[in-house]
Amino acid sequence: MIYFRSDYSLGAHPKVMDALVATNMEHTDGYAEDRFSYETADMIREMVGRPDAHVHFFVGGTPTNTITIAAALRPYEGVISPATGHIYVHETGSVEAHGHRVFAAPTEDGKLRPADIEKIMLHHEDEHCVIPKMVYITHPTENGGVYTKAELEALKECCKKNDLYFYIDGARLGTALTWPGNDVTLKDLGQLCDAFYIGGTKIGALFGEALVLMNDHINDHFRYMVKRACALLAKGRLIAVQLKALLEGGEDSLYYQLSRHENEMAIKLAKGVVEKGYKLWLPHQTNQVFVIVPKKKIKELEENFFFYTWAPYDEENDVIRLITNWNSKEEEIDAILEAL
Ligand SMILES: Cc1ncc(COP(=O)(O)O)c(C=O)c1O
Repeated sequence: MIYFRSDYSLGAHPKVMDALVATNMEHTDGYAEDRFSYETADMIREMVGRPDAHVHFFVGGTPTNTITIAAALRPYEGVISPATGHIYVHETGSVEAHGHRVFAAPTEDGKLRPADIEKIMLHHEDEHCVIPKMVYITHPTENGGVYTKAELEALKECCKKNDLYFYIDGARLGTALTWPGNDVTLKDLGQLCDAFYIGGTKIGALFGEALVLMNDHINDHFRYMVKRACALLAKGRLIAVQLKALLEGGEDSLYYQLSRHENEMAIKLAKGVVEKGYKLWLPHQTNQVFVIVPKKKIKELEENFFFYTWAPYDEENDVIRLITNWNSKEEEIDAILEAL
């Protein structure tokens, strides 16, 4: 079985495992109050160009999103997300379980635009309505789309105008940062939003995400929020050790190399499926390739390949999602192209 199902189906990159093993026998204090966590946080602050930023480590994306949103909002406030956004579709109502409405904004292609936000702002009148107070996007989008710097600046402006926090979910951030033609850097993100996270789970770590918080208000009593939500890891250093191994070296780091590899493999795959005469569901960007495939063919593919059937397309076809990972091999891409 060849996996195109997700980008977290493997364990960790061997260099990440080496870093864990090398530090394994060292005693440290717990709950991310150790030298590894402090060093990694300093390194991230430098990469982002924000010495004033707060860095918090999380095991996965759902607690990062839920707790950041809950820390930012008052009980009567909600968060605007693209209707395809992970917090709206794939987090089991976790944000709502913490008492906050998610306003789902329909979009053309998964990318949120200022006009989508303005439409939702119109619904708020007075104390009989939930106040939209935050904008959530994923970069890249759930469909793999990469925001340009101008698009993010437009969102930032719209947030400023409407008194909204701007939060960016970076579960696959590396694939956006290394996408050919991308013009958004980590330093830009440090200026563009109130908070974002650098996702490790999908790009070489066993698990782990680093939240970068530029907004002191959201950071107020943040660790209390994390602990109360059962997400403060006793062996907190395990996340920092992994992210240090991944991020050391900036744009030459393992994180950037693995992200570039995911993209390169996806470019080969997307080009290959088009050459075979298949249509892409959406223009391809980053490490997710959505292909329209006859249902009969999907059944056949499932014998040797593991992937998601993502959406119905028409009577005869469905859309499949093929996703590359940091260890995808050329032979694996060739094998699925051959099967197609
Ligand atoms: C964009 C995005 N955000 C958040 C998550 C949630 O991560 P986790 O499953 O680690 O909670 C995912 C996972 O698929 C994701 O793709």
